[in-house]
Amino acid sequence: MCGIVGYIGPRDATPIILNGLKRLEYRGYDSAGLAVLQNSHIEVRRDAGKLARLASLVEESPVHGQVGIGHTRWATHGEPTARNAHPHLGMTGEVVVVHNGIVENFLELRDELKAEGAIFKSDTDTEVIVHLVERYLSSKIGLAEAARLAFSHLKGAHGIVVLSSREPDKIVAARIGNAGGVVVGVGEGEMFIASDLPAILEHTRQVVFLESHQMAVVTRQGLKLMTLGGKPLRYNVHSVAYDPVAAEKGEYRHFMQKEIHEQVRSLTDTIAGRVDFDNGHNICLPELNLTAELAKNIQKIFITACGTASHAGMVGKVLIEHIARIPVEVDIASEFRYRDPIVDKNSVVLAISQSGETADTLAAMEEARRKGATLWSIVNAIGSQAMRIADGYISMQSGPEIGVASTKAYTAPLVDLYMLAILLGDLRGTLDARAHRRLTADLRLVPDLVGRCLDREAAVEKVARVLVNTSHCLYLGRGINMPTAYEGALKLKEISYIHAEGYPAGEMKHGPIALIDRSMPVVVIAPRDPWYEKMISQIEQTKARGGLVIALATDGDESIAGLADHVLWVPETPWLLSPVTTVIPLQMLAYHIAALRGLDVDQPRNLAKSVTVE
Ligand code: G6P
Repeated sequence: MCGIVGYIGPRDATPIILNGLKRLEYRGYDSAGLAVLQNSHIEVRRDAGKLARLASLVEESPVHGQVGIGHTRWATHGEPTARNAHPHLGMTGEVVVVHNGIVENFLELRDELKAEGAIFKSDTDTEVIVHLVERYLSSKIGLAEAARLAFSHLKGAHGIVVLSSREPDKIVAARIGNAGGVVVGVGEGEMFIASDLPAILEHTRQVVFLESHQMAVVTRQGLKLMTLGGKPLRYNVHSVAYDPVAAEKGEYRHFMQKEIHEQVRSLTDTIAGRVDFDNGHNICLPELNLTAELAKNIQKIFITACGTASHAGMVGKVLIEHIARIPVEVDIASEFRYRDPIVDKNSVVLAISQSGETADTLAAMEEARRKGATLWSIVNAIGSQAMRIADGYISMQSGPEIGVASTKAYTAPLVDLYMLAILLGDLRGTLDARAHRRLTADLRLVPDLVGRCLDREAAVEKVARVLVNTSHCLYLGRGINMPTAYEGALKLKEISYIHAEGYPAGEMKHGPIALIDRSMPVVVIAPRDPWYEKMISQIEQTKARGGLVIALATDGDESIAGLADHVLWVPETPWLLSPVTTVIPLQMLAYHIAALRGLDVDQPRNLAKSVTVE
């Protein structure tokens, strides 16, 4: 996951940038670079590999100056090579840019800029930004205004920092959407910029967080904040805690809240590089080692996991069965390992695990290995056991997840499973070219849809206030969103200690309906998916018995608005991807209820992040 550091002040920028980048190493990256203004000239040092490589480059060919920017890159567009590493210099050599996020319309912009004469030196989407700034920079238009005009062309979510030798007294930074943060650190006669607090905390604890669609013009003396529309803004300087771990929470109260908000970025990274949107929309999951022959021989897939990961597996069952027409069983790992499952060499056992170290999941994998199955995993922690012992794996692109209640490591595997289902469908011939194109094109919508769910946090918090004192809560869902009900209920019980049950809505009449009265809130997950009509009748049955209904519905659904007591709205989402959006309000709901109850959200009692014992 990319990191940004910038410095302007009286000291030598190079070591400050290198140290700052070092503090962001935990985010993961595959190349690194820096640009420093040395005698009115921009000097860039960058290469593939770790920071030690960058440090030795700087040692071989030193660079000193008082203004500079640096970056650690997690490759999305273009391989992790020196030419694709940030910072990116423009054609004049007078402008340089570092960037987090993905320029979604970069192909269009690149063609436009090439037609104007721009020569591209990398495969990255980022390079369009520097050419755009150069397009506007002139004797009449200064750096800040040129950057602002350039940013107005960019689609997607971004953190961007720009430096120019023409105006050596400033750095311009901007945040658009949720591609991670942009924070400005205020020092005495010096200023710092970073994507994440740990990069600058050793220098200052006075910081200004940029909100989406804001930009800052940073000089040695201070900063000017404005909207991307050019309107000046006032800002608050926050004092951040001493505790460096707490500081990593940035502007959020808890890691869980931060991680919920990181989902735009983690899902962008999940998709990036996995779908060749330029060329046939092919899905590429090379670490899975999935050949056409293997795909054709699979008779059954067993998905095995624990906790939240098992709910992702349940969604995976619907996806793989629907798209690739392969039978799928989902087994809780602690059951699978002991029930002597009928697994053989034509079976694939797919383990899902955030940590890759959960004891039951690893034991289930060993059991599958003994029985001769092909072993796959979807794992977040790079290099973990579940990754190492598998025949093939998909690496979640979620970054470290610290909150015990899993959030971003739930939505990433949903998208991984969707891509896997398409790949299996392609290889087994169950998907024609049109269906393939439609399904892959829908993937592009995901980050924006998730961002729109996150924008509604204040409305979700209002519903949290209604539920804060409840003792029980029932979550109902059906079809592809039945696991969403399980996951919503799990989130609530894990962190708020409220008794919550997830139930398949069609089963309500066989038991839980007896519980319905005004003191039993019922969260009904009813987006516009193929089970929608069934869910409406569920709401009616609950209302008829005096139940308090909180419905989760698609924007503009007047019939649900008329029926339910409260509504959590989600934007219209293609139904096979709907679990990615429907879970977001439920994560926020659980989070706010627990926070309102004053509980230890990130470390709930009795729970562990990684359960390495049976
Ligand atoms: C623990 C965590 C859960 C997690 C489960 C599985 O119970 O508290 O949040 O879902 O383990 O963990 P894994 O690392 O295998 O996904």
